Amino acid sequence: MAEKREFPHHMIKEIFEQPQGLHDTIAPRIALPEGQVQLNEVPIGREELRALNRINIVASGTSRHAGMVGQYMIQELGGIPADVDYASEFEYRNPMIGKGELTIVITQSGETADTGAAQREAKARGSRTVAISNVAGTTIAREADGVIYTLAGPEISIASTKAFTAQMAALFLFALHISQARETLAANLRENYIRELLELPAKLKILLECASQVERIATEFHKVDDFLFLGRAIHYPIAMDGALKLKEVSYVHAEGYPTGETKHGPNALIDENLPVVIIATRDAGNQGSVLRYEKSLGNIRGFKKQSSRVIALASEADQEVPRLADHTIVIPQASELLSPILEIVPLQLFAYYMAVKRGLDVDRPRNLVKSVTLE
Ligand code: BG6
Repeated sequence: MAEKREFPHHMIKEIFEQPQGLHDTIAPRIALPEGQVQLNEVPIGREELRALNRINIVASGTSRHAGMVGQYMIQELGGIPADVDYASEFEYRNPMIGKGELTIVITQSGETADTGAAQREAKARGSRTVAISNVAGTTIAREADGVIYTLAGPEISIASTKAFTAQMAALFLFALHISQARETLAANLRENYIRELLELPAKLKILLECASQVERIATEFHKVDDFLFLGRAIHYPIAMDGALKLKEVSYVHAEGYPTGETKHGPNALIDENLPVVIIATRDAGNQGSVLRYEKSLGNIRGFKKQSSRVIALASEADQEVPRLADHTIVIPQASELLSPILEIVPLQLFAYYMAVKRGLDVDRPRNLVKSVTLE
């Protein structure tokens, strides 16, 4: 699985392996007849889950962006407050870890020094730890009380893609697992989510057909040296990761920002030389999502008045965004908590094609390594 096969780079191969990685991470953990999630690898019993007061999530880089998405999933479905920290910052904030707190450490490699140090810090303060990792038998996996493995297969490219979508799926499974123990979600809603989870790999496979459209967009923008990536709520971490992917592989400066924050400063930057990539999807069945979508439409109108070029991600059947944005990439319909797993795909492709058009070594970007094992 670690060979490039017919692909020119590991990164594009791993982007196209995401439907399989999602399926392999999700399917073994679903008990269909009962419509339940089965996460036997997490040795935290029902009573302990019901007694939980807080979950701390620590990770680095792309894995932390998965943690930021997981925070919404865990709070919404599990009814537990969750915090997310940079692993490299965790110890500095003197985390007051009290009784009934669990620490989740997310790490593709299982060897990132900062994340391992944060895990030891959490354990020293009395917290149990659960790792979400893509590699078996690693330092962080061994030191955790339990490990939820993402089964995305070996990820060779320095920029993390298939591990990232699998991490978000694993966090969603964990959030449903918590909701089962704490009875915070009606059985019919859980069954709907489980059905949607099982359909997600096929939706992602269809979404990959946008690759040629994204390649054309990258051709138009490949000489641009500055981008702003925007998203609201659970989509903000996806904007962050889209910006990080672009930085990592194409050396283009890009910043991920909450859409609502642009009026507090970044708007001064937005003009014909600063394109904006904005996530403007909506879950029609979710009132908050529709409200945030309406606000994002207003943002796009404002950016166009400032002569910026706008690349938007919009939900299928949306008529408004394509009328306003310079380029619109259509995302298959999905619930608000699951659409981030789809939205990152065109942003991964954009970063990849930008790097290729700029003639760079996509799989081995300068100054970066796959796993930072020294603090
Ligand atoms: C960086 C990688 O070095 O480490 C990123 O380039 C990754 O892709 C980050 O997200 C964290 O790595 P890990 O293995 O702990 O998820």
